[in-house]
Amino acid sequence: FEHRALTGCHVVITAGPTREALDPVRYITNQSSGKMGYAIAEAAAEAGARVTLISGPVSLPTPNRVHRIDVISALEMYDATMAVVDAGCDIFIATAAVADYRPAELSEHKIKKADGDLVLTLVKNPDIVATVAAHPQRPFTVGFAAETRDVLTYAQGKLENKRLDMVATNDVSGPNVGFNSDNNALTVIWQGGHKVLPLAAKRQLANQLMELIAIRYKR
Ligand code: C5P
Repeated sequence: FEHRALTGCHVVITAGPTREALDPVRYITNQSSGKMGYAIAEAAAEAGARVTLISGPVSLPTPNRVHRIDVISALEMYDATMAVVDAGCDIFIATAAVADYRPAELSEHKIKKADGDLVLTLVKNPDIVATVAAHPQRPFTVGFAAETRDVLTYAQGKLENKRLDMVATNDVSGPNVGFNSDNNALTVIWQGGHKVLPLAAKRQLANQLMELIAIRYKR
């Protein structure tokens, strides 16, 4: 990977889970550790890019020379991302496991236990990566697809439906890859091509992915 391949580029990355509050003490979230996104941020910074990392709640140190913006909910991640994209960036990489839904109502006080069941209504969160891909000053836009089955079919669907430049897919059904693991394996697809990046440490995989992104971006 060419040492300063991304000098002069502003790379924006979302990472980690989001947290969708039900009341002051409860929330809905997912298993994302943020490790893949943080590894990509580090790889991009080492390749000379200016990096903005928009991060959900994770317990990871901020990589060197990376500007980190902390958010909690999907709506906060959306607002923070749009502000950065409006101001201008070159490459956007969506690694965050954004909650698809949030509770329709945020209770001001702790929800009290009552007799019988509790029914929650969830409403759709905005799709951040699809909104970025539809932006008038659209950066080169990369999405992730974490699936437990039919990985390539869903990934191809995301490339087209969300109008992405690239989709990095991983199968999170096994214990050795994906969410909390230090290792991962990716199949990267774009219009008219694909590349398999076999099982490796996330940091090493991040370099390979950034290299592919830099090549496709420069075309
Ligand atoms: O549709 P799905 O959630 O499987 O797509 C995953 C990709 O979309 C990831 O790149 C994720 O970061 C992004 N995404 C997003 N905003 C959402 C949901 C997903 O940016 N609300």
